[in-house]
Amino acid sequence: MYQEEPHPDPYAVYAQMREEYGPVVPVELEPGVRGWLVTDYNTLISWCRDTTGFTHDPRLWKDYAEGRIDDSAAVVPMMAPRPNALFTDGAEHQRYRRAISDSFGAVSEQHLASVTREVADSLVDTFCERGESDLLNEFARLLPLLVMSVVFGMDEERALRFARASRDLWTGVDAERANAEAERALSETVSDKHRAPGDDVTSRLVQHRAALTDEEVIMQMLLMVTAANEPTANLVNSTLRAALTEPDRNPERYRTDGELGALVDRVLWQDPPITNYPVIYPRVDVPAGGGRTIEAGSPILLGFAAANRFFAEENADHIAESANRAHVAWGAGPHRCPARDQAVTITTAAVRTVLHRLPSLRLAVPPEELRWNLTGLSWVPVSLPTVFEPQAPLSHATVEGTHWSPSESPRETSAPKRPTSGRSPLSSLSSFLGKLLRGS
Ligand code: HEM
Repeated sequence: MYQEEPHPDPYAVYAQMREEYGPVVPVELEPGVRGWLVTDYNTLISWCRDTTGFTHDPRLWKDYAEGRIDDSAAVVPMMAPRPNALFTDGAEHQRYRRAISDSFGAVSEQHLASVTREVADSLVDTFCERGESDLLNEFARLLPLLVMSVVFGMDEERALRFARASRDLWTGVDAERANAEAERALSETVSDKHRAPGDDVTSRLVQHRAALTDEEVIMQMLLMVTAANEPTANLVNSTLRAALTEPDRNPERYRTDGELGALVDRVLWQDPPITNYPVIYPRVDVPAGGGRTIEAGSPILLGFAAANRFFAEENADHIAESANRAHVAWGAGPHRCPARDQAVTITTAAVRTVLHRLPSLRLAVPPEELRWNLTGLSWVPVSLPTVFEPQAPLSHATVEGTHWSPSESPRETSAPKRPTSGRSPLSSLSSFLGKLLRGS
């Protein structure tokens, strides 16, 4: 399962494994880290709902608890225990989950869509004159992070440090320093919101009746950012790819809500953004078929993508006939994604902005040349190369950049600010992106 070379069709790999082992497959997440992958739709749903037999809590990961997994293993940051909603169960889980749902759920759909459109417009401005773009890396991967920084109520300087640190984390540049920097930017934002709360997700988390400690608030913010980033980027990417490669291709029609919503649903069935994650652990030994046993405390990856795809293939007639949302792209059971509506709002606003701004958009390579990287926990697209008629950037960016407030306090390491006669003018999204992309 572990492959470093880009692959043209991840499903072929999974179909082969299913044929060999059946619906629950023994896998090596990376050299020396063993587990299982469940690729069967019904088994996956029933195990996710069975909170007596299975847990999301990695403190039950036996190989890790007994010191057989090195802390330097690549999967550790995604699997090691943390006090957040995804890695806890029962009352602890409900407390964290309620704080997240109440805080993020209070962002109105209109506000989220409008923030997303502005971020999307500013990102398109950075490449629209070129007539070509890798829409995965230049657009989809940056957009959710920037949207989340805005709704967290981060000031510009912290949003910039946070975005750079997050980017370094994905690209593996000095991960330890990047992680510390991302946490520091969040921690400073939390301190700010204690002093001056606002209408933002961080303030609502800080003030929530669950009475989270600052560390718990930061952990839920990190979970939200990681839970939002890659999956939303992948959904934007796959929806754009689907719009550009459908046989009766006419991206014009995706400017209406109904058609675009139906396309997103189709993509969630056929190409779910989260492939083999998160992980559950059985509390007791479980038979896996073929005389094999999954030992208590073994990691079982939730193979949402394989489960969906194989179920959809086996039920193709039935699913094609109805606007069926029974896919498992959002998970199942008590940990099912609490931000489903928001993820769709961000995705549709982003995709519609691209199709509107770049009307002649098309893939720069035949679809069969697109590649995926297969790792233990996921398969991720490598790029989405596109071409289009060059367009002029929108000129409104300098007046509309109202999302980030100026930094109130100087960084500990920087020279004290000279007093000003009032609040400095808000920086625009486009100048923010300029700094982020130039690295200045
Ligand atoms: C297309 C985008 C997204 C997809 C496909 C997606 C999917 C998922 C899935 C599969 C899970 C795990 C469910 C399980 O364990 O059964 C999950 C959990 C979660 N997602 Fe999303 N998600 C997306 C976007 C977002 C966004 C934008 C947020 C922003 C807050 C978010 C927040 C969370 C959180 C906090 C959890 C953990 C919930 C818990 O453990 O109770 N997700 N998501």
